[in-house]
Amino acid sequence: MNISRLIAALLGVVLFLPALSNAFEDDESCLMCHKYPKMGRVTEDGTQKSYYVMPDTFSRTVHRNVPCRDCHSNIKELPHKPVKEGVTCDSECHSIENPSTGKPFSHAPIYNAFKESVHGREKQEKGLEADKPYCITCHTNPLYNEAEKAPPKEIIDRCVVCHEDEAFSAKWYNHTSRRIREIKRSSKEIVALCSSCHADQNLIERHQAAAAKEGRELGRKFPYAAVAYQDSFHGKVTKYGNTDAANCLDCHASAENYYLSVHELRPSRDPKSPINKANRVDTCRQCHKTADENYAAIDPHPTHFKEDNLFNYYAEIIYAIVGNVALVGLVGMALFETWGRKRDGVNWVLRVGTSWRRRRKTRTR
Ligand code: HEC
Ligand code: HEC
Ligand code: HEC
Ligand code: HEC
Ligand code: HEC
Ligand code: HEC
Ligand code: HEC
Repeated sequence: MNISRLIAALLGVVLFLPALSNAFEDDESCLMCHKYPKMGRVTEDGTQKSYYVMPDTFSRTVHRNVPCRDCHSNIKELPHKPVKEGVTCDSECHSIENPSTGKPFSHAPIYNAFKESVHGREKQEKGLEADKPYCITCHTNPLYNEAEKAPPKEIIDRCVVCHEDEAFSAKWYNHTSRRIREIKRSSKEIVALCSSCHADQNLIERHQAAAAKEGRELGRKFPYAAVAYQDSFHGKVTKYGNTDAANCLDCHASAENYYLSVHELRPSRDPKSPINKANRVDTCRQCHKTADENYAAIDPHPTHFKEDNLFNYYAEIIYAIVGNVALVGLVGMALFETWGRKRDGVNWVLRVGTSWRRRRKTRTR
């Protein structure tokens, strides 16, 4: 038997054996190569890429039941050709069916809402469009995410009375209970996420310049939004751990349909935005029950820049003047007093080495 045929036969066994087993859905044997930590390369533009997929970590992500090629759909055969295009999040799964519709599952409803939003973009973008967040900008799996907790025994015992299968019951219990417990980002995490771009001065200037050139409108607060939020009441208390004060999405997304709404953020000039002038009172009222037009007009992104807020700008100057005048006045008065006492013959004397005592030169008695 010829040696190359032997190798091919062996490779065939290695390639297709795991396909028979069902261990964490690697039924396409991708991990045969991708389980090696050092796997990766440096791309033409000099970025280092890792092609290592940690089986243990992947098996704890929300996508653990999705076969690799349902997402990496450009890979048609094994060993595969170099991959040109990345994964888009609106593709249809071949293997996962949406149990409520019976159709192949897809994130298309979220994707379509997102495409209409201020951040809407394609996966492959260049230039200014690439500054916008894509799905994976906001959704990555933390490297060391916790394993899902085993469901309480008494609940599973109850499900299996009818469903007979423990694994089925545990899977569906975790799927829904996770959402019912409303695991979502904390206010601090949201502020950090939005600020990663909206406090980036270079990004802001790029977009201001482009908008001016194209004659396109940007919000009045676009240049300061994230930085000014830090100076607002909400920003300050959120920074110190308060979880009730408004974060970016409490105002910019609608609480009514939060999980969809965070994907269809709109600028304040859009009548559908919760912070459009017409909707602002209702948005503040979610938390400030007695808010009226006047209250809602309070600036959530306060600055003291002349071009943004003339009142704050002059108020700050006046405060500075008043403060300095008061300080100079106080020190001046103290100096005058000292000078006056000296003139009256009062001296300061160091006694016992530790304190200054006052002794009168001329005794009154
Ligand atoms: C025979 C080994 C082998 C198997 C099996 C394999 N890969 Fe790969 N894969 C590689 C190698 C080698 C590279 C690096 C290619 C390169 O440098 O362009 C790679 C690169 C990749 C990349 C990154 C490509 C890029 O340029 O960004 C993806 C995505 C990928 N593989 C997915 C898969 C998936 C999904 C499967 C299973 C269907 C799979 N691979 C199975 C060897 C393998
Ligand atoms: C839910 C969809 C999804 C599933 C399932 C999935 N991946 Fe990925 N994978 C992605 C996305 C998104 C990226 C980021 C790169 C991109 O945007 O194309 C990625 C990146 C990669 C990369 C690095 C490529 C690069 O260019 O940096 C490799 C290698 C890879 N995946 C292999 C696998 C393997 C092996 C599996 C199965 C165990 C798998 N993936 C399952 C969506 C998925
Ligand atoms: C600007 C950031 C951002 C972008 C971009 C984004 N999302 Fe989200 N997404 C969120 C936030 C915030 C939530 C609410 C849950 C949370 O706080 O993590 C969420 C929730 C979700 C959920 C609900 C998860 C659950 O378990 O209930 C899905 C699904 C989702 N996003 C998919 C997508 C898809 C698909 C895209 C791309 C079309 C996308 N997201 C783009 C920020 C983003
Ligand atoms: C009294 C019996 C009974 C109990 C207890 C019960 N189920 Fe069900 N379950 C059913 C029946 C019957 C159906 C299908 C009929 C229907 O859709 O109403 C069903 C449907 C389901 C489905 C939809 C399956 C599909 O593919 O359409 C899920 C998921 C499910 N149950 C999960 C659970 C979980 C999790 C528990 C425990 C917390 C539970 N069930 C407890 C009887 C029960
Ligand atoms: C990856 C960077 C990035 C992240 C993260 C990000 N944005 Fe944006 N955002 C942009 C870019 C780029 C624009 C588009 C500016 C333009 O139109 O030129 C934009 C536009 C906006 C606009 C409309 C601005 C206008 O005047 O038209 C709002 C409102 C907005 N983002 C809010 C948010 C909120 C809230 C978050 C956090 C959930 C967030 N953004 C996260 C990059 C980002
Ligand atoms: C208390 C509610 C509130 C909070 C919290 C809030 N914003 Fe705003 N935001 C507004 C309002 C109202 C405007 C419109 C102000 C104007 O133009 O007068 C605005 C304007 C903006 C703009 C300019 C574009 C536009 O739609 O006019 C951006 C970008 C923005 N906010 C991002 C953020 C980010 C990022 C955060 C969190 C760091 C945040 N906002 C927190 C209410 C809020
Ligand atoms: C998610 C809830 C929430 C939303 C939405 C919200 N706020 Fe607040 N806001 C708070 C909390 C909590 C505090 C701190 C209250 C306290 O301890 O006095 C606060 C404090 C304030 C303060 C500081 C002074 C005061 O009255 O206590 C102002 C001003 C304010 N908010 C304005 C607004 C405006 C204007 C809007 C609408 C554009 C708004 N807020 C939307 C939760 C919210």
